[in-house]
Order: sequence, then structure tokens, then C-alpha cells
Amino acid sequence: MNAPVSPADTLRAALSGLLDGLPPRQAAQAVDRLIANYRGRTPTDAPVLRDRSDVVAYAAYRMPATFEALCAALDAFADAVPGWTPASHVDVGGGTGAATWAVSATWEGPRPVTVLDWAEPALALGREIAAANPALKAAEWHRSRIGSALTIESTDLVTVSYVLGELTEAGRAAVVDAAAAAAQAVVIVEPGTPDGYARVIEARDRLIGAGFRIAAPCPHSAACPIVPGEDWCHFSARVSRSSLHRQVKGGSLAYEDEKFSYVAAARFPVAPAASRVVRKPQIRKGQVLLDLCGPDESLHRDTVTKRHGPLYRAARDAHWGDAWPPPDTDQDQTRA
Ligand SMILES: C[S@@+](CC[C@H](N)C(=O)[O-])C[C@H]1O[C@@H](n2cnc3c(N)ncnc32)[C@H](O)[C@@H]1O
Repeated sequence: MNAPVSPADTLRAALSGLLDGLPPRQAAQAVDRLIANYRGRTPTDAPVLRDRSDVVAYAAYRMPATFEALCAALDAFADAVPGWTPASHVDVGGGTGAATWAVSATWEGPRPVTVLDWAEPALALGREIAAANPALKAAEWHRSRIGSALTIESTDLVTVSYVLGELTEAGRAAVVDAAAAAAQAVVIVEPGTPDGYARVIEARDRLIGAGFRIAAPCPHSAACPIVPGEDWCHFSARVSRSSLHRQVKGGSLAYEDEKFSYVAAARFPVAPAASRVVRKPQIRKGQVLLDLCGPDESLHRDTVTKRHGPLYRAARDAHWGDAWPPPDTDQDQTRA
């Protein structure tokens, strides 16, 4: 039997192993309970992930999606900081450790890794799954509550993934300020909803106020051109559905798309995208319509036609969330 090679494959195998021996009905019930507990109960004053079946349900049901969203955000960040590799990583509100897997998939490890969370069962399961990933074998898993007393040890990278939505306004400010004080780079990911985007923008403003520069997704560190309430910046990551997903959600689709919002910022110089594709490109006969966020703090649509030669071919391959133009195309041809 061939050993799984990529961290994504290793993670999938580790997660499916968790469900071995758990009767499918019990797994589905644990997911239903988890969803019900989250619904309408945030911010929470005690951990939602209280026991092993809660965290198994979370890991099997949500972790593949948070992992893929993080990988997409970290890829965009890595493109904007060529040559930089985090020498250490702290994942705050890390739960079962999706971000640690995504960081190790983006930049080969090992490196010192610390996961902080207030839910002991999540940390315990994260530690168990991480045993399958050589880059995470030495990771430390510590109980820590996000609040005004939160301190994070000095580190290269802090990730805060799908956590802000569980916090009060004061908690959100505390975690972003502690991350900014501790790290050279901060990556924050939230669900790709209007509320998730609003929390990302709030964090983005705090990071800029603390002296950070925005590396991704924005082409600049000035104000976001989106008018609050009219739209929200978000992206999409494809996630293979596990058998548990299919069982709980029904249907036979082999994948689903996880919508997420994010910001990646650094204290050191960054090279953000010239522009960012902020909607799914529309391919028409002989032309591609690209909705872009540009360096001049504006949103605009570019029409790339066959006349643009290599750029047109690049536009046909462009995806929602990509930098535009691709870094290796002729910059003179970027505007229609
Ligand atoms: C939706 S989960 C996200 C887990 C992980 N970061 C991911 O992306 O899969 C939210 C996590 O934040 C943790 N959390 C929520 N409020 C917290 C607090 N006040 N202090 C510490 N951890 C907290 C929860 O225990 C949970 O593990």
C-alpha cells in the first residue's frame, strides 16, 4: 500500500480513521448536535466543543473545509512574501489544529508550533491527529482563554481561523492586538459571509493601526473600497466531501465549496497582488470578464479579449481569488 504523500491526503486519512468504529448514526447525531449548539449561541461563554464526540464531529465535518480555506489564504499570502518562511507558528483558537496542517502544507516544516484553545477535548484530538504529520509531531497544545489576559509568545506567524465569530467585540480586539504584538505575520480567516467579512475588516483595520502592511487579498493597505452592507469580499475553496458529509448533508456531490473571507498582514515589506480577482470570472465567446479589486482602492471590471493574446489565455485560466495579472504575464497588456 502506498503511503499518503501530501498533508491534505494525510489529514484526510487521519480524519477518516477517527470515524472508524463510530456507528454512522452516532456520528451524524454528533454533527447535528454541534450545528445546533453553534446556532444562535455565539459568542459563547463556555466551550462548545465539550467532549470527544463533539470534537470528532467538528474534525470530521468542519476541519477539511477550514483546512482548505486556510490553504487558499496562506497560498495567496506566500505569493506576496516570496522567500519568507515562518520559523515558528502559533495558532490561536486552534481547536483541532486545521491551521497547523495548512501552514505545514504551505511551507514545509518542521518548526516550533503552538496551538492555543480553551477546549481541552479539541486540543487532545488535535494532538492525536497531528501524530500523523511529521511536521507537527513536536507541536505543543495549550489551554488558553482569549480575553484581555491573553498573551502570545513572540513568533513569526499567528493564525486565527474561524474564531472571531465566537468572540465578543472585546475578545476580538484582544486576540488581534495580542497577535499583532507577538507576530511578524498574522493570517485571519472567517466564514465568507457579510458578518465574517465585517469581522475581517475590523481586524484588518487594527492590524494596519498596529503597523502591519496588508499582503493579501488586498492589493493595498488603504481602506477597503466595498461599501459596508452592499457587498462583502469573500473567496471559495473546493473541499472533497467525506462519507460523513454525504451522510449528514445528503446528496451525492463529491465536493462542496467553502466560502471564506481573510486577511494576511506582515510587519515586513510585502509584495501584494497588482489586482485581485474578486468574483468568479465570466467566460464569454472570445472574452473574459474579470471583476477586480485594484491598487487604486477601486473595484472595476476588466474585459480581456482574444486581441490580448497571452493575457487572454491567462484570463481563461484565472480563478476567483487569483492575483491579476498572473505574475509572469506582460504587465503592459493588463488593461482592456
Ligand atoms: C470554529 S472553531 C475553529 C477551530 C480551528 N481554528 C479551525 O479553523 O478549524 C473555533 C475555536 O475557537 C475556540 N474558542 C472560542 N472561543 C474561545 C475563547 N474565548 N478562548 C479560547 N478559544 C476559544 C473554540 O474552542 C474552537 O476550538
